Amino acid sequence: MKKTEQPKPFNRRAFLETAGYGAATLMLWPFISSCDGQSSNTASPVVNPDFRPDIDLELSAVEREIPILSGSKTKAWVFEGSVIKGDKEALQTTEGSYLGPTIKVKKGQKIRIRFQNTIPEETIVHWHGMHVTSENDGHPKDVIHSGETYIYEYEVMNRAGTYWYHPHPHGRTGPQVYNGLAGLLLVTDEEEEQLNLPQGEFDRPVVIQDRSFDEDNQLVYIQSRMDSMRGFLGEQILINGTAEKVLNLKSGCAYRLRLLNGSNSRIYKLAWEDGSPITVIGIDGSLLSVPKELPYLMLGPAKRADVWLDLTDKPEGTRLTMKNASFPLEVMSGGMMMDGGETSLPQGSEYEVFTVKTISSGSNEYSLPQQLVKSNYLDPSTAENLNNPRQFSFAMDHMDWTINGRTWETTGVVDEETVKLGSTEVWELINSSSMMGNNRGGGMMGNGGMMGGGDGMMSGGMMGNMMQMPHPVHIHQVQFNILERDVSDVDPQLWEAIKEGFINEGWQDTVLLMPGMKAKVIMEFKDFKGLFVYHCHNLEHEDMGMMRNFKIT
Ligand code: C2O
Ligand code: CU
Ligand code: CU
Repeated sequence: MKKTEQPKPFNRRAFLETAGYGAATLMLWPFISSCDGQSSNTASPVVNPDFRPDIDLELSAVEREIPILSGSKTKAWVFEGSVIKGDKEALQTTEGSYLGPTIKVKKGQKIRIRFQNTIPEETIVHWHGMHVTSENDGHPKDVIHSGETYIYEYEVMNRAGTYWYHPHPHGRTGPQVYNGLAGLLLVTDEEEEQLNLPQGEFDRPVVIQDRSFDEDNQLVYIQSRMDSMRGFLGEQILINGTAEKVLNLKSGCAYRLRLLNGSNSRIYKLAWEDGSPITVIGIDGSLLSVPKELPYLMLGPAKRADVWLDLTDKPEGTRLTMKNASFPLEVMSGGMMMDGGETSLPQGSEYEVFTVKTISSGSNEYSLPQQLVKSNYLDPSTAENLNNPRQFSFAMDHMDWTINGRTWETTGVVDEETVKLGSTEVWELINSSSMMGNNRGGGMMGNGGMMGGGDGMMSGGMMGNMMQMPHPVHIHQVQFNILERDVSDVDPQLWEAIKEGFINEGWQDTVLLMPGMKAKVIMEFKDFKGLFVYHCHNLEHEDMGMMRNFKIT
């Protein structure tokens, strides 16, 4: 069915195409008002009348003015939500934050989300890391116009973990997330509940983002083509959608911190300033089987890590700073030239990320379990292509960000991107932008003229450096296990500075590929056929086309 044949304004194509629901849905249309934001609870449509949600939510993308800095309010686009039916605790809002409400669900629950777009451009919401059907995934082809509603209905099938949601329109994901559209989606399950991990006020989100503001406190995004080639880097760090970078906690207590790198392209090397290790208990879509202590933690865009923080021995008034420790990426990514004058917070420099302050004392019963969850990871011998993995190479090619030489096509998908339902496969994800090894990105040199003009000079040398970009690769629909990282083509100096910050265990959906890095991941394509995307989660790269479909048939 073509887009023009779609009934408007209500839009949930997949179900409208399905015989059986058509009639029921048709009868509901007259009750839907179009674009004044008043099409609320009373007349909200449903897609499938037989779907009985445990939690029925309304979520809107709206323009607001938020007091982020002192002085003028900041214009932002934010998610706002309300619970129509079900546990009111399913939505948690942070005062004074531009971030969307944290959505809390449990594996096995059925949720309906009635998403209303009231920002002045097309959008669609994606549930990052969730295992849902194609029509519930927020595929770029499913964008809705301002004034329209898109209904998601799905059962939560994921393990306990820290997921998140954000827009996914092609070409506009970067600016929309930057303007404020993002929120956490926390899943719990029975296995997690038995562990008695910190809950309520002891389970804290720490969403890390970078932003730049003008003199009037308004958000400033990409300034030049060069900015967008590299990816946006902001001049200051915001935590949980506020400029307040302090977490006020209680001494005597243990905490679970849910870290999310919600930045467009910034990579963090997180380390406690006092040198104590970071205790990681969860990553992306799962808890680990045992807690893991790292001297520092690498967190690329879209990556989540759950960290245990024990304040039992810390007296009241303690300040503990999480800093970004330095790593020599800016040299490799041309930062000497490009970051130098442009951002006061260059990628890989040392700066404060947030500070934990114990402002009162208390006590809680939580202690760090030595065993967390059963690992049950995929057995590599069950993969159909263990010795011949599909290879996907992320590179610059003729001034385009490409995957195996291709850029984004809305529904385009080729053979090497088509997999079978029920199969287990190994994919080798390759950042081929290293100067150390083979360089698939070499083609850009011949076409350098394109970079001239508006942004001024870009010498061949700078372009050479431009290719040295990390690519945080994300695959929709699945959670995978990381089998290995091949770093033989990674600059040894860079690798030396970051090598202890990665976690291969657990179920993950995003893997940070530093220049020259290759990672083998294993995943199972189960339950749902359809079209899904995989892409670089540097949002500027994604918007420029470093995203492709894969199809489960
Ligand atoms: Cu978090 Cu396709 O994205
Ligand atoms: Cu995703
Ligand atoms: Cu990239």
